[in-house]
Amino acid sequence: MVMAKNAGFCFGVKRALQFAEEAVESYGMVCSLGPLIHNPQEVERLKQKGIVAVDDLNLVTGSRAIIRSHGVSPEIFSQAEKLNISLIDATCPFVKRAQLYAKDLAENGYRVVVVGDRNHPEVEGIVGWSNQKACVVENAEEAGKILLGDKVGVIAQTTQQVHNFQQVAEVLKNKNPHLVIHNTICLATAERQKATEKLAQEVDLVLVVGGLNSANTQKLARIARETGTPAFLVEKAQDIDFEWLKGKDQVGITAGASTPDWIIKEVLQRMMEFTDQEEQRTEENATENL
Ligand code: F3S
Repeated sequence: MVMAKNAGFCFGVKRALQFAEEAVESYGMVCSLGPLIHNPQEVERLKQKGIVAVDDLNLVTGSRAIIRSHGVSPEIFSQAEKLNISLIDATCPFVKRAQLYAKDLAENGYRVVVVGDRNHPEVEGIVGWSNQKACVVENAEEAGKILLGDKVGVIAQTTQQVHNFQQVAEVLKNKNPHLVIHNTICLATAERQKATEKLAQEVDLVLVVGGLNSANTQKLARIARETGTPAFLVEKAQDIDFEWLKGKDQVGITAGASTPDWIIKEVLQRMMEFTDQEEQRTEENATENL
């Protein structure tokens, strides 16, 4: 069993959790606008502590709400002001950077292209900062179909696959060689993707631990599979099917940026159970053959 060099909670998620925990300590129960992280088990644990996710500012209990690391559009800040809700802004600084590029480019007359998952909350927020003017492309094929003007600025969703961003940028550059490119993929994402690729090349099977609804976790599974090594996404230890592990010499484990340590530990424990079972079976077979 090998663990990826970079796996689990990233700086931005840790920071958002710290903000939320401090808010609960100071004010009692506190709402977050959307689940604080894309991991259902951790969201449930936070709920027990008094950090409750709501989908709309109108549903906020109390006078405070936390903005999660994905960030939000400027309209949410205006809406909060009208509702007298003070926002605790845990937008990851890497996301903030992408938002500010979007704002700056749009204000300076650039057509803004965001490379990312169009329905992801982070991308929706970034588009908001461009005054809803940015266009979103998910891949090179989509990039080939859009019309570009003279002034074009390209930015990335922070958790984009580096390879996909480069391909899209290449297609757009062929259409407009003078476009401005801001690679806003965050360091944690780039490191995790690189570590997963390396791990997948060294093992027979990869288990990616993380929320099934987490975009960055799904991308890690895709990166592992692209190396030709099979990869399974597991949300919790019980999801591991021992049949997957049979006959595998080396199993690699990685985890998305929103996967808490306690879930990773449970997964490692379950892997140890499998190893123990296999050792016991081998011993029994050896005894029978005596
Ligand atoms: Fe921030 Fe990157 Fe994590 S953008 S929230 S450090 S995945």
